[in-house]
Amino acid sequence: AADGLAATPPMGWSSWNKFAERIDDKTVREIADAMVSSGLRDAGYVYVNIDDGWQGTRGPDGAIRPNEKFPDMKALADYVHARGLKIGIYSSPGPMTCAGYIGSYGHVEQDARTFAEWGMDYLKYDLCSGEWFYSSRDEVQRAYQQMGAALKATGRDIVYSLCQYGRVEVSEWGRDVGGHLWRTTGDITDDFAKMSDIGFDRNPKFGNAGPGGWNDPDMLEVGNGGMTETEYRTHMTLWAMSAAPLLMGHDLRTMDEATRAILSRREVIAVDQDVKGAQGRVVSKDGDAEIWAKPLSDGSVAVALFNRGTTGRSISVAPGDAGFRSLLGGRDLWRGTDVDTNMLDFAVPAHGSVMLRLSGRH
Ligand code: GLA
Repeated sequence: AADGLAATPPMGWSSWNKFAERIDDKTVREIADAMVSSGLRDAGYVYVNIDDGWQGTRGPDGAIRPNEKFPDMKALADYVHARGLKIGIYSSPGPMTCAGYIGSYGHVEQDARTFAEWGMDYLKYDLCSGEWFYSSRDEVQRAYQQMGAALKATGRDIVYSLCQYGRVEVSEWGRDVGGHLWRTTGDITDDFAKMSDIGFDRNPKFGNAGPGGWNDPDMLEVGNGGMTETEYRTHMTLWAMSAAPLLMGHDLRTMDEATRAILSRREVIAVDQDVKGAQGRVVSKDGDAEIWAKPLSDGSVAVALFNRGTTGRSISVAPGDAGFRSLLGGRDLWRGTDVDTNMLDFAVPAHGSVMLRLSGRH
C-alpha cells in the first residue's frame, strides 16, 4: 500500500509457530519483555503479534470480545506499547478462522474499529472457512479490499498482512487492496525440507515485492528445535536475501545464545531491511549449489552461497554473479570479517550458507 507503512519488510514476532492456540495475555507480555531484554527489539524486531486463538464471542452489540485468556486487550496493547514495541492481531474474512474461532464475516468494519480502539498496529487476515478458501480471484480480492478499506477508515496506522497462501495471483493485487505483505505459500513447518521448498522454490516465483508491499514466505522457525544451527542460519540467510518479513516464531523467554545470535546478526538484518527493497534471486545453480544476489541501495550487492545438499562442498563466486566486471571489496556477513575478493572460494557445509556483501565496478 502507498501509505508509508512497511517501507522495509516488517520485523517482529508472532505467537503461532511455537504456541498455536496455547497463547495468553501473560505469555505475550513475557515475550514483549524478552524482546527488549534480549536486544532483539533494538535489532529491529518491533511487532508482537497475537495469531489465532484469542477470540471469544460477540457481545450484544456485535463487537468481538477476546476469550478468557485475554482479559483486557487494550491493557495488553498499552503494556506492549510502553516497551517501545507494536502489537498485532489476527482475523479472517470468513465466518470462522483456520483454528475454528469467530472470523470477521458480517462484522468487517466493526472489527476494524475494535482493533483500532484496542491499539492494534498490525492485522493478519487469514483466508479460512471452507468455501472462502476456494472462492474466485474476484471474491477473494473483494474480501481483502473490504478489510483494507475498513482499516484505512479507522485512521490508525495498521500494517495489513494478507494470508491466503499465494492463491489467485495475490502479489499482483495485494498492494491495491491496502496490503503491506502477502503470504506466498502454505504454512512453514520446522524442518529443512519444508523451509527449503518455500524459500528456494516457491516464494521466488512471486514478483512485485518492494517498499510498502512484500512477498511473505511465512514466519521464522529459528529456535524451535527442528533444524540444526547451520540450517537455521540458512533459513535466516534465505529470508534476508528474499526481503522477507522477519517474524520470529519461537519462545524468546527460553532461547539459547545461538538462536539469539542468528536472529540479531546486524549485517544480515541490514540486507533484509535495505531500503531499495529488491527481492534477491538465484543467479546460478550447479546441482545442490545455488548462488543468490540481491542489489542494495548503496550500489553493493548481497550474495549468498547455498549448499542444499547433504554433503559439504565448495562454492566459488565470480564478480559476474553480483553483476560486476571486477570486485572492489567484500564482507562475510555471518563472520563479520572482510573477505579477499581474489579468493572467493568457500567450503559450505551440508545445508549451509555463506552470505557476502560485495562492491565492485560495472
Ligand atoms: C493458517 C495460517 C497460519 C496460522 C493458522 C492459525 O494456517 O497460515 O499462519 O495463522 O492459520 O489458525
